[in-house]
Amino acid sequence: MRYKIALLGGDGIGPAIINEGVKVLNSIEHRFGIKFEYEKALIGGCAYDDCGHPLPESTLSIAKDADAVFLGAVGDWKYDSLPPELRPEKALLGIRKALNLFANLRPVTVFDELTDASTLKENVIKGVDIMIVRELTGDVYFGQPRGIEEINGERAGFNNMIYFEKEIERVAHVAFQTAQKRKKKLCSVDKANVLDASRLWREVVTAVSDNYPDVELTHMYVDNAAMQLIRDPKQFDVIVTGNIFGDILSDEASMLPGSLGMLPSASLSNNQKGLFEPIHGSAPDLKGKNIVNPIATILSAAMMMRYSFGLDDAALLIEKSVKNILKMGYRTKDIYIPDTAGTSIVSTTQMGDLVSKEILNL
Ligand code: IPM
Ligand code: MG
Repeated sequence: MRYKIALLGGDGIGPAIINEGVKVLNSIEHRFGIKFEYEKALIGGCAYDDCGHPLPESTLSIAKDADAVFLGAVGDWKYDSLPPELRPEKALLGIRKALNLFANLRPVTVFDELTDASTLKENVIKGVDIMIVRELTGDVYFGQPRGIEEINGERAGFNNMIYFEKEIERVAHVAFQTAQKRKKKLCSVDKANVLDASRLWREVVTAVSDNYPDVELTHMYVDNAAMQLIRDPKQFDVIVTGNIFGDILSDEASMLPGSLGMLPSASLSNNQKGLFEPIHGSAPDLKGKNIVNPIATILSAAMMMRYSFGLDDAALLIEKSVKNILKMGYRTKDIYIPDTAGTSIVSTTQMGDLVSKEILNL
């Protein structure tokens, strides 16, 4: 079997963590007798520097042509003064939209080995296993009209929170089906007490639930959900929510496992094609230091095996290897707690080496 993977390292620490992901994929090729063909392309600030646009046509066509896209991160403060349509982040939104990646899966798993890396108490987080399904191509991120205009003699900034029924329906189906494969509990998060867009969201999700009588559906307001995630995260199995709420809640949830550097994501369409990226950003201040955690990216590669290629065994092997390496006490700086017996700090590249070797050993 051959699979085509578009490699979009991006900015900041992006290319470095993608390198570690590719190391792991090399081991998977070895173990499973399959072949990955890589095609590299620029995205974000580096693409702007190269050709004046953060998402060049050539990058988009490589992404469209591939079976899956493996992305690092985009953004750097040096592009902060660019007009909005040329900012690196616009490329990320652009590629999500162009590939119709409407369902963003963000698993939040607390590894037993890392319960001390979180700022929260062990009894609250131990055993947490949540899947956040974030709608990714609608909402206030893409709604029109938007802009900054002069209204009544002063400037006003505005965006439109808008959801179409079909957008809600299709992501709800993904969420219910995800719940069916797990503990069969789905919590839909909205702000239906205030927002019309959320009122429709709730109505449509409720209607879709008729197709999934085996899944228990609950609704929660987003402010309450933000609180409940910290108070008692184990009450959640699958969460489905809109683009902006999902953006915020997933960063919050990353503090359960203790580090943004641990959280992978898969952005999926109706077909098998997906984009796989860590949920963290490009951290330009950490670029070139070889200290960041590549595990979020490595676990994103595992999601690629599972969701785009249907290689569940390969996904499980990557996840098992990560777990073993953590069990052996290896920690990157973000998850290292000083004076913890049996643990030691490793660099980004060492962590990648350790996990890829473990895959060959298992
Ligand atoms: C994410 C990021 C992006 C988003 C930014 C970089 C545009 O925060 O993937 O969560 O807001 O979707
Ligand atoms: Mg975010």
